[in-house]
Amino acid sequence: MKRIISLTINSVLYELAVEPRRTLLELIRQDIGLTGTKKGCGIGDCGGCTVLVDGIPTFSCLMLAIQAEGCEVETVEGLATDGQLNRLQEAFVEHGAIQCGFCTPGMLMTSTELLRHNPNPTEQNIREAISGNLCRCTGYQKIVEAIQHASEADNE
Ligand code: FES
Ligand code: FES
Repeated sequence: MKRIISLTINSVLYELAVEPRRTLLELIRQDIGLTGTKKGCGIGDCGGCTVLVDGIPTFSCLMLAIQAEGCEVETVEGLATDGQLNRLQEAFVEHGAIQCGFCTPGMLMTSTELLRHNPNPTEQNIREAISGNLCRCTGYQKIVEAIQHASEADNE
């Protein structure tokens, strides 16, 4: 039987009827229509589905939608303002940190949280932070450089 839940996604309040077994990922992509968040493995291995739940990077394929009741969820669609990419997104573009782009939304959400709590991350900090986000294309170096560049720009 469906349950009514309310949650905030990118500062918009939603009230929805959801099946108890529906994942947060399904709710975000299929019910809300925010398809920036990606489904890779669906079992917690790839990080493609990473969103922030109350500020914490979370694999949305592993979280039930009903567990997000009352939470504030942030997805990649919430990073840009009026169509203007933020500094971190621009750094990914400038540094060639995007190839197929499938991992990019999850990488951006994980690194957004990193830079919020650690504005001056070392390369090691960055590599540890994104260790749960798999990329099949870039070899990670350009992603690390993009995050480093964004952190330096934030500290100018
Ligand atoms: S789709 Fe969630 S971790 Fe891979
Ligand atoms: S850019 Fe293709 S998986 Fe990372």
